Amino acid sequence: MQQKGDIAVVGLAVMGQNLILNMNDHGFTVVAYNRTTSKVDEFLNGNAKGTNIIGAYSIKDMLSKLKKPRKVMLMVKAGEVVDQFIDSLIPQLDQGDVIIDGGNSNFADTERRVKTLKKKGIYFIGTGVSGGEEGARFGPSMMPGGMMEAWPTIKPIFKAIAAKTPNGEACCEWVGSGGAGHFVKMVHNGIEYGDMQLICEAYQFMKDLLELDNEHLSAIFTNWNQTELNSYLIEITANILKFQDKEGYVIDRILDTAGQKGTGKWTGINALDLGIPLTLIAESVFARCISAQKNTRLQAERFYGKKAYPHTPISSALLHDLQQSLLFAKIISYAQGYMLMQEASQTYNWILNYGDIALMWREGCIIRSIFLEKIKAAFDRSPQLQNLLFDDYFKSLVQKALPSVRRIVAKGIETGIAMPALTSALSFFDGFTTARLPANLLQAQRDYFGAHTYERLDKAYGQFFHTDWIGSNSNVSSSGYNV
Ligand code: 6PG
Repeated sequence: MQQKGDIAVVGLAVMGQNLILNMNDHGFTVVAYNRTTSKVDEFLNGNAKGTNIIGAYSIKDMLSKLKKPRKVMLMVKAGEVVDQFIDSLIPQLDQGDVIIDGGNSNFADTERRVKTLKKKGIYFIGTGVSGGEEGARFGPSMMPGGMMEAWPTIKPIFKAIAAKTPNGEACCEWVGSGGAGHFVKMVHNGIEYGDMQLICEAYQFMKDLLELDNEHLSAIFTNWNQTELNSYLIEITANILKFQDKEGYVIDRILDTAGQKGTGKWTGINALDLGIPLTLIAESVFARCISAQKNTRLQAERFYGKKAYPHTPISSALLHDLQQSLLFAKIISYAQGYMLMQEASQTYNWILNYGDIALMWREGCIIRSIFLEKIKAAFDRSPQLQNLLFDDYFKSLVQKALPSVRRIVAKGIETGIAMPALTSALSFFDGFTTARLPANLLQAQRDYFGAHTYERLDKAYGQFFHTDWIGSNSNVSSSGYNV
């Protein structure tokens, strides 16, 4: 008789297939199922040939081939398809069985699914899985959250297949209840957007202003990869820039319009909802939106005239400034991402462990980098750290980089190189480190036109005042509500 499976995976697109192969490599017996069942045979006769992977041709068949409690991991398109599978699984599952959603689901959907399934006695886990095809195959970063009761049964599988840090720790930890796992994955993706946009801004600065060719650009990124910027995204950038096929450099033939599947946008929306100034990620999303308007940009360039960038010679001082600017902006972006997670943790009653999150992102995922080790160390030193920018190590990096950042941002503004993410990082920092901002004037304006009231510097906070700015003799103020 065939051995029963430890876990089933639904969805045999590349991520699903690779996760199954990864689980198989680690000694787990996996049942593979796909709605279009011809894919199951293709997989069994293709990549899965010679493995212990078991094929299933219906949900019933799949469940009958699993050990109890049954664990079913969905690797299907986020959104409605996840709900459809959950609906067809529910009547066939028993109490204590586990459904795991490994797609890029919106955390609010995961919260809802946890609640629904809890009532039925079925466990639900929403897990972030990062690292693309290669990560799934050889070690992704995994961010599970949902119903903690189910964690012990899936923990051995997840810990085994996850990426490992240089110290051998698995890049997978329990994140928190409800949608916490998918939330942390969403922030990961937002940070991914920021890191990518910053690299693109540095690329344009060097390509258009310094007029460097692809080989030179690639060499600079390779060089930066030996510094604090060492990361997967810098590494692949260096590879991309020098990559040639028979028609030459591929990078020069790619249309400059960015796509997006929505996780960066969700991060921005959530930050607006929670009132967190996640400026760098938001600018990165908008930069993709501007890029997508190719025809309008062509028209606008014709209308205003093509920019003539002033001749700017390359120098090691300028490259150093640029490297420092990337590092500075990266610190700001992560500080903002952590601010969002800290606020979300309170708002949604998760108890997020910030050091563990840095550990989960250390290897396997798209934003993996040496830098994350430093974030983990900061939270290990001070688990209650209010903000990454209040850590002494990051303070020293920021202070060292600041003069460079100001020079690069000024250069970009002076010459017309758009650097929205880098510029927003500096603006955020300047606002964040200013005890007195011009919001006194803003409050006065609100009070002037709408009697919205204001608090005073010389009175206890929480008391509200209204001035009769136009001598109307009215002392009616607007009713108070704040978003
Ligand atoms: C990952 C990635 C992945 C994401 C792609 C595309 O962690 O492996 O974040 O989940 O889907 O990077 O995202 P966009 O299409 O939004 O750029």
